Amino acid sequence: MKTINIDLLIRILAEGGRLRSGADILDDSGRPLLAGNAETDNVETLLSLKLGGINLIPFDESSDAGVWDKNGNSIFQRLAGRPQKSPPRPGDHDLNLKAVTARMESACLEFKDKYSDFRSVFDETSRSIKENNGQMDMDKVIGPAEKMVRFLMNYDPSLSFLNRSPLTTENYPYHHAINVCNIGVAVLNRFNTNFSSIINRQLSLRFSEHDDIDPSARKDAFTYYIPGAIKEIAIGYFIHDIGKALIPDTIINKSTSLTEDEQRIVHGHAHEKGIEILERNHIRSLYIRNIVRWHHAAIYEGETGGYPEVPRPIEIPPYVKICKLVDIFDAMSSKRVYGEAADSAGVVARIYRKFAGKDPLLQFILHAFISEMGVCPTGSVIHLRNGQLAFVLDKQGPIVLPLTNIKGDPLSRYADPIDIDEKKKEDSFFDIDRRKAPLPPIQAFDILPAELREMFTRISIHNELKKQTT
Ligand SMILES: [Fe+2]
Ligand SMILES: [Fe+2]
Repeated sequence: MKTINIDLLIRILAEGGRLRSGADILDDSGRPLLAGNAETDNVETLLSLKLGGINLIPFDESSDAGVWDKNGNSIFQRLAGRPQKSPPRPGDHDLNLKAVTARMESACLEFKDKYSDFRSVFDETSRSIKENNGQMDMDKVIGPAEKMVRFLMNYDPSLSFLNRSPLTTENYPYHHAINVCNIGVAVLNRFNTNFSSIINRQLSLRFSEHDDIDPSARKDAFTYYIPGAIKEIAIGYFIHDIGKALIPDTIINKSTSLTEDEQRIVHGHAHEKGIEILERNHIRSLYIRNIVRWHHAAIYEGETGGYPEVPRPIEIPPYVKICKLVDIFDAMSSKRVYGEAADSAGVVARIYRKFAGKDPLLQFILHAFISEMGVCPTGSVIHLRNGQLAFVLDKQGPIVLPLTNIKGDPLSRYADPIDIDEKKKEDSFFDIDRRKAPLPPIQAFDILPAELREMFTRISIHNELKKQTT
C-alpha cells in the first residue's frame, strides 16, 4: 500500500484540496480516526492525526482513493509516485537570503494570523483567575486551547525564537506559555517516536520467538503516549504556570532579589496555587496536574534546588521532565524582569552539561530535546573559526548567514547563506568556533543586516521590537 507524507496533504487541504484515502486509520481502541471511504477537505482532521504522531497516510490503490487540488484535478498519482523524502530544508533548494527569510516570514505571518485568538484565551483566563479568586470558565479555554495546540503541531518549533521576547519583558507570560507548549510538544513527539520504536524492536524480537503470534501485531504495537494523552499534555504545557496568576504582581515583577518569604511564595505557583486553581475548576487530568505540580522538581537523583521536594526524582514522568527542560530553555533565553536574555546556544549547552550522564531515561529525553533545538538553535549569532560572526538561519546544517568579515567588521554587502555541513566537505577548517560563546540577543540584534532587522520588525507578532528599533 502506498503512503503519502501527512505534511504534504495538510498543505493541499489548506489550499482547498480534498482527499479520500481508501484505508481506515484507527485509534488504539480500533475506532476510525479517518474512515477510508470518507472524503474530507477538513485540514483539522489531518492536523489531529499529526498531533497523534501519524506522519504517513496510507492509500489503498485498489479502491477509489484520491487526492484532488482545489480545482478538482486529481494529483494522487503524482504524489504517490514520488519517493518519500524528509521535508525540505532551505539547503535542499534555494540557499539564498531571500528564500530563507521568505520561509521565516511566511511561518510568522501564519502565526500572526492566529495570534489574537490565542492571546485572548490567555488574557481572559488570567484575568478571570485574578478577579474570581482562582475561578475560570474551563469550557471557554478547552476549545480554543485544542485549536491552538493543533496549530502549534504544524509550526516549526525552531522558529519559536521569533515568538520569544529577547529585548523586553512585556507579555512574557503569554509568549512563555506558547513557547513551552510549542517546543515541548515537538520534544515530546520526538521522544515518543524514538522510545516507542526501541520498545517495539524489543517486542518484535520477543514475538519472533513465538510463531503462533499474528505478524501484524509484531510491528508498532506500543506507543508510549497515545494521541489523547498528547493533547492533554500539550494543554498542560500551555498552562504550566497558571498558578502565577494568583501570585501578587509586586512579587512577580520585582527586579531585585527576592526575600526568602517572597521566594517561597513564588515557588508556591506550582504545587500550591497551581493545584488550587486546577481543583477549584475541577480539572482532573493527571497529566495536567503532574505538569503544574512538578515542573520545577528535581528530575535526577541528587539534583538540588528543585521544588517541591520529591522523594524519587527518577519517578517523575517523562512528559514532566520535558516540560522542565523546555521551561528552563525558554525562560533563560528570554529577557526577564531580573536579567537579560542569554544566548540560546549557550542555554542548550548549559542544559546539556547539567543533565547529561544521569539515568538512561533522562538521557533519552535530553537527546530528544537537543535534537529538536539543535546545538546552535535557529536565531543564534555564533562565531566561526575563521573569525566571522554568523546568524543561524536554520539549526539543521546549521545554515548560517555571515555577518562580518574575518576581521569582525560588518559586511557592506551580504553573501548567500552557507550550509556548514556542506562547506566542511570542501574546507575542513570551516566550522563553528565552539570555544567562543555566541552573542547574547541584545547585542546580536544590533548587528543583524537591515534585511533581517526589517523582516523581524515587519512580522513581529508583538510590538516590542518595533519600539526598540524606532
Ligand atoms: Fe513555573
Ligand atoms: Fe514556566
